[in-house]
Order: sequence, then C-alpha cells, then structure tokens
Amino acid sequence: MNAGESSIHSYLTISKERIEAALAHAIPADWQVPAQLRESMRYSLDAGGKRLRPILVLTAAEAVQGEAMAAASAMPVACAIECIHTYSLIHDDLPAMDDDDYRRGKLTNHKVYGEAMAILAGDALLTHAFSLIPRAARAGGVSAEIAISIVEDLALYAGAAGMVGGQAADMEGEQGKTKIEELEYIHLHKTSDLVVFSVTAGARIGGATEAQLEQLARFARKIGLAFQIQDDILDLTGDETKLGKKTNSDVEQSKVTYPYLIGLEESRQLVAKLTEEAKEALKLADLKSPERLQQIADYLVGRDH
Ligand code: IPE
Ligand code: IPE
Ligand code: MG
Ligand code: MG
Ligand code: MG
Repeated sequence: MNAGESSIHSYLTISKERIEAALAHAIPADWQVPAQLRESMRYSLDAGGKRLRPILVLTAAEAVQGEAMAAASAMPVACAIECIHTYSLIHDDLPAMDDDDYRRGKLTNHKVYGEAMAILAGDALLTHAFSLIPRAARAGGVSAEIAISIVEDLALYAGAAGMVGGQAADMEGEQGKTKIEELEYIHLHKTSDLVVFSVTAGARIGGATEAQLEQLARFARKIGLAFQIQDDILDLTGDETKLGKKTNSDVEQSKVTYPYLIGLEESRQLVAKLTEEAKEALKLADLKSPERLQQIADYLVGRDH
C-alpha cells in the first residue's frame, strides 16, 4: 500500500466513525415509537456498511469550500442520505424483490423483524430523511434557500424519476430481453442517482456555483455507474465475508447485470474507463480541494467490498 492509499483508507475510516457517531443520535430518543419499529430501524442503520454516500456529502462540501468547516454543517444531510440508502437496502432484500438473507454481515431486516416491520422500518427511514434537511438549516451553516434545493433534489433523485424508478426497471429486467441501454438506465437510476444527490448536496453546502454543480453531477453519475457495475462483478467474484452479503444472488434471481451482458473482463474495463471520465469531469469542476474526491474515485475501482 503506498502513502496515498494509506491516507485515503484512514480518511475513509475516520469519516465513517464521525458519520456513525452522528447517526447514533439521528432518531430522537424522546419520540414515542413502537419499540419493534425503533429497534428494526436501528438494526439496519447500525449494521455498518461503507457509508460511502454520507462520506461523499462531507467530502464534496469540503472539496468546494476548501475547509473542513463545511463538513460539520453538512452532517444532517449526510445522515439523511444514509437513511434513504438504508431503507432502499431493507426493501431491496425483501422476498418480493431480491429475496436476500444477509446484509452488512447480519441477517436481513425482514429475517429478524418480519416482512411487515421491515417494510415499515424502510418507510420510516425514508420519511425521517426529509426531516433532517430542515434540521441542517435550523442548526445554521446551511441557508434556507440551499436547504430547499436539497429537499427538492432528494425527492427527485430518491423518487420515481430516480432510485425508485431504477429499482422498478430492475424488477422488470429479463435475461434475453433487457438490452444494454436499458441496463444502463437501471444502474444510473437505482444507484447513480443517490450518488449524484450526495455529491451535489455536499457541494451546494460548500457554496458551489451552477457550473461546478453540473460537472460534479457528471462526476457522480459516472462513479455511481462504475460502482454498480463493480457491485455486479463482486456478486460473481467477491468474498461473502468481506461483502457482508451472499454472492451469486444475481445469478440465482436471473438478474440482468453488466457481466451477464458484456462479460467480466469488459465490465472491469468499463469500470476503469468510467472512473477516468469521472476524474476528467472533476478537473473541469475546478474545486479548491478536489484531492479527496479523486482519491475516492480511484479507491472505488479496486474495492473488494
Ligand atoms: C449496496 O450499496 C447497494 C448498491 C447500490 C450496490 P453499498 O455497497 O454502498 O452498501 P453498504 O452501504 O456499504 O452496505
Ligand atoms: C440495489 O442494487 C440498489 C438499491 C438498493 C437501490 P443490488 O440489488 O445489486 O444491491 P445488492 O447487491 O443487493 O447490495
Ligand atoms: Mg436489487
Ligand atoms: Mg439486491
Ligand atoms: Mg448487487
């Protein structure tokens, strides 16, 4: 491991710890919530995972502002996207969707709490995410105007024209029928959209211009697509212990994936190509401190979990 690699690893570890400390308080203790619901929400939220999306919120804020200060104001938004992502995973694992038994190294939510409670925990995390954005504005450091744009983006990127639309198209995919353009649509929406939200929301908090937001959205779209192609590759070649979920889930569900359509080697080349294109867009964004975003893009190409 060279110096750059070791520094990005420790940066990711420290950022993950900060986010997890904030997530621990993200659901108010004084709310009257049925115990099973609270437990089931916490079960998935506390299960770990890479925390990539919230890290991108914080890192993008810092990259634009050039100082660590922006990251503190961005923390409630970082928690919001992790709530949305976690809900999407709980629902993705349900028997009606991918029917998976393990997630983040633990039994899936519905295996522990039952399907009804898993659906409701997902619903509650989704709703709660929207209450965290005004919280960022009330805490100061994020203007009401920026908070409105972030709420608008979250509804767009997480909703029917975004992640949910991608998941719906994913459910309709069929081996032998779904073409590469359709698969690209699926991946761009089910996965890239939450990545685009994360990077641009952080960048808005850091004070990005419209031109910077545009390039950063291109950057995020491409790393998001590369990320999902890598997820498809790891479903075939990964180590279950490292991934914290079962491999060959896509094969068992007859899913249409990049390796299924273009093969493993071409999929790997595409991940590398998209990452290079993403880094070009990042350069064009002309940020004060783009280094960490660039290192994250490079780190994701070689990830094994
Ligand atoms: C899994 O996301 C779902 C995809 C969009 C591929 P992650 O690989 O980021 O999962 P966690 O958050 O680290 O568990
Ligand atoms: C899931 O894609 C994307 C979302 C949850 C939005 P996958 O179904 O490939 O994710 P894993 O492999 O179960 O993590
Ligand atoms: Mg799925
Ligand atoms: Mg799945
Ligand atoms: Mg997958």
